[in-house]
Amino acid sequence: MSNLDSAATALEKGFCEDSNFPEPQQLLSELSELLTVLEGRQPETIVEVGTARGGTFCILSAIPSVNIAISIDLPGVAATENELQSVADAPTIRAIRQDSQTVQTKEKVEDILDGRDIDALLIDADHHYDSVMTDYELYAPLVGSNGIVFVHDIVVHDRADEIEVDEFWTDLEADGTKAEIVDQAYGPPFVKRDGWNIVAHGFGVVDRRGELKGRTHV
Ligand SMILES: C[S@@+](CC[C@H](N)C(=O)[O-])C[C@H]1O[C@@H](n2cnc3c(N)ncnc32)[C@H](O)[C@@H]1O
Repeated sequence: MSNLDSAATALEKGFCEDSNFPEPQQLLSELSELLTVLEGRQPETIVEVGTARGGTFCILSAIPSVNIAISIDLPGVAATENELQSVADAPTIRAIRQDSQTVQTKEKVEDILDGRDIDALLIDADHHYDSVMTDYELYAPLVGSNGIVFVHDIVVHDRADEIEVDEFWTDLEADGTKAEIVDQAYGPPFVKRDGWNIVAHGFGVVDRRGELKGRTHV
């Protein structure tokens, strides 16, 4: 079974314990919709800023068109490049393990891309306002005119965790190219998964093609 089939099966099952995949830190309803959008776009280059154990990275990199998949996360925290290569499908899997919010990290991404645009960018690292803004300002300019940006956690239920992506998303001006993927049914009381409650969710989408509009309820 290909990784993409495994991902689809895992999504359907809600990641049963015998899945080979680490669990993505996402609502599977929203991730499934994101996957549908991306499968229609045939992205060749994807970048995930904030990968953790790699659950979402594995799924994104399993999209058959993907040639280069780049993961950015802090050292000692996230899955290593070897670990990602053992579960992810893309021909080129690269893991940069340093602070995403530096020009040096951006330059490493550019070196790997070697002149290519990013086709799909997922920002899901430090969720403070200034941090999300920095990630967006560094990496969104590398996304091509047919590309797409996803910003995770635009719906925040509990500010105690200092998640401020909603404020960033509200303030972001993107020339009419903003859309959203949100599971409207999700909210308190929260479902405890893997020892933690999901208190924020939803993808903000900046679609450079301008095809996605408004809010997709899933
Ligand atoms: C919510 S988790 C990512 C979940 C992952 N996208 C998924 O769907 O499974 C956030 C990740 O961002 C990383 N992170 C936080 N601050 C960062 C920074 N300044 N640079 C790079 N990674 C960072 C954390 O180490 C953590 O692994």
